[in-house]
Amino acid sequence: SPEIFDVKMGSRARKGWEPLSHTHSLGARVICNHIPGLVNKQRQLCQRHPDLMQSIGEGAKEWIRECQHQFRYHRWNCSTLDRDHTVFGRVMLRSSKEAAFVYAISSAGVVYAITRACSQGELKICNCDGQKRGQASDDRGNFDWGGCSDNIKYGIRFAKAFVDAQERMVKDARAMMNLHNNRCGRMAVKRFMKLECKCHGVSGSCSLRTCWLAMSDFRRTGDYLRRKYDTAIEVTMNQDGTGFTVAENYNRSTKNELVYVEKSPDYCLMDRAAGSLGTAGRVCNKSSRDTDGCEVMCCGRGYDTMRVKHVTKCECKFKWCCAVECKDCEDVVDIHTCKPHKRPERLDRN
Ligand SMILES: *[C@@H]1O[C@H](CO)[C@@H](O)[C@H](O)[C@H]1NC(C)=O
Ligand SMILES: *[C@@H]1O[C@H](CO)[C@@H](O)[C@H](O)[C@H]1NC(C)=O
Ligand SMILES: *[C@@H]1O[C@H](CO)[C@@H](O)[C@H](O)[C@H]1NC(C)=O
Repeated sequence: SPEIFDVKMGSRARKGWEPLSHTHSLGARVICNHIPGLVNKQRQLCQRHPDLMQSIGEGAKEWIRECQHQFRYHRWNCSTLDRDHTVFGRVMLRSSKEAAFVYAISSAGVVYAITRACSQGELKICNCDGQKRGQASDDRGNFDWGGCSDNIKYGIRFAKAFVDAQERMVKDARAMMNLHNNRCGRMAVKRFMKLECKCHGVSGSCSLRTCWLAMSDFRRTGDYLRRKYDTAIEVTMNQDGTGFTVAENYNRSTKNELVYVEKSPDYCLMDRAAGSLGTAGRVCNKSSRDTDGCEVMCCGRGYDTMRVKHVTKCECKFKWCCAVECKDCEDVVDIHTCKPHKRPERLDRN
């Protein structure tokens, strides 16, 4: 569900995204005025480029899925409450490491979606990178630019203008942090551009190559930003408000790192103000000592065990020709889920 996109679009933005699929039948002005949470600059960009907004909306599904994938075994799992669209906004207010990740991956998602849409010819304003012409070379020799190189420059430029506009209002530590992490996300997509080539020449000799630059799968960006989350740097803003000071007492450049201002809650218990859903009911792994293990996931509250029947395909046989036939096999597996927090008795009375 795309509610996390509220981060950039303001609260209750999700409702505003739904009509975007009807962009063609309604005036851009009407649409853009009905997406809540856009700042003026974003509303202008929206009116000028309603087709780009469509790509951004579709891209949001992709980065939210990626965020949830990266954190599937963690207490904080990149979800928010279904009906309360403000919850995630509050996580953002906390300027935590998780906020840093969400800003970075959502910015990366916008770059990715716009760049891809440019290449696919879906947008009026951009198409393939026209500067990649003539000859070039890599470690395997010369090649001709051809095909359609992904126009990442345009994707980055638009994402910067659109996403960063949300932070241009106030210059405080949180805005600085968000801008920094937005940039980190944009650059992450660029980092994984790869050269793709087609061979020509006498019977596949590959003496001639035609190549183009293409973005890698978004998973690469997700994996990369996930590692950056693990090593994110705690910072405080300089007194003159022009930059960061690394909070810890060591020298580390923040250039390509995620930064955060506030320590995270432990995400064990439901705490709306802190943006924590708690881990009650989360599935955990009894034999793991890692973050997906019942001990860590359930924060020591213990877990419930449920036996469930699990149907799998088994005893598969290849049948001439050409099919595979399997039997349905049932086995019983135990599913463990975290117990809810037990409130003290006296709070339960009355
Ligand atoms: C940080 O870098 C400065 C200048 O390079 C150096 O003088 C200082 O000792 C370093 N501090 C630490 C804790 O490494
Ligand atoms: C994330 O955790 C919440 C609260 O514990 C849970 O309701 C939700 O289903 C989880 N989401 C995903 C995608 O696993
Ligand atoms: C549970 O954790 C163990 C140990 O890390 C691992 O070998 C196993 O595959 C996990 N089980 C599931 C269902 O993920």
